[in-house]
Amino acid sequence: MTDRKGIILAGGTGSRLHPITIGISKQLLPIYDKPMIFYPLSVLMLAGIREIAVITTPHDRAQFERTLGDGSQWGLSLTYIEQPSPDGLAQAYLLAADFLDGAPSVMVLGDNIFFGHGLPEQLARAGRLTTGGTVFGYRVNDPERYGVVDFAEDGSVRAIVEKPDIPPSRYAVTGLYFLDGTAPERARAVQPSDRGELEITSLLESYLSEGQLQVQQMGRGYAWLDTGTHASLLDAGNFVRTLSQRQGQQVGCPEEIAFLSGWISAADLEARADLFAKTDYGSYLRGLL
Ligand code: DAU
Repeated sequence: MTDRKGIILAGGTGSRLHPITIGISKQLLPIYDKPMIFYPLSVLMLAGIREIAVITTPHDRAQFERTLGDGSQWGLSLTYIEQPSPDGLAQAYLLAADFLDGAPSVMVLGDNIFFGHGLPEQLARAGRLTTGGTVFGYRVNDPERYGVVDFAEDGSVRAIVEKPDIPPSRYAVTGLYFLDGTAPERARAVQPSDRGELEITSLLESYLSEGQLQVQQMGRGYAWLDTGTHASLLDAGNFVRTLSQRQGQQVGCPEEIAFLSGWISAADLEARADLFAKTDYGSYLRGLL
């Protein structure tokens, strides 16, 4: 079986967070003590993925390379791909087609933060399916802001609708997509929507119409945090702060996942702890040794 590869989609203009995102990419803004992208990166790592493409704007690429490097500090291999303009989420599969080279993938949006007991098991379950796709439904108060699941009477999924005026359910589709090796080929057939984007929902529709799409529920024990507004960005940072200070454990720490997965050695971890010696993050890494 070909190993699943990862994609972090971290382009876009960040216009909803202006003026902050004029000078820095949204996905590099701080969520308490780490850049935002560490959290989705950690999700891919928890899914056991070590070969990852980071898609950025040409303009922001250097910032990401400076922050994440080649990934070897975490036992990963990172590749950078540029998206010249934000033409839609499904375009990621066209841009990453050569990188994927027929492999199944997990794509996560660079501004999506997940936290919850049992997440690694849920990711493993989705990862075991070798054909078709899996997405995750999460109950929210404001489904009209997202892709929304339309359930039939028997509980099966009828459709996934992007930002509907009248949401067919309260279940938003999160920005985490497990798709098989046919995703780039299917993305090639997606036509731009009325707003001119290659919509992820159209790509998912291609799987759904063949009965090849699973929607797994992420229950109420999970946090799927919003980072789309100034207020929710601050809330997400406070959530991470509250939890990590109470538990004395990090949320979304790539070094920890890499070390516990056996991808980096104790000496590698120590080198990272030394690098961050002046911070609580560094002390935490040292404590893992
Ligand atoms: O967060 C989950 C939601 O993400 C899903 O429920 C929706 O179905 C999906 O369309 C998406 O909705 P958003 O309104 O969050 O999409 P947005 O255009 O804000 O893009 C999400 C992230 O992806 C954002 O950080 C910017 C980045 N992006 C977006 C586009 C359209 C890119 O890197 N390239 C793009 O072309």
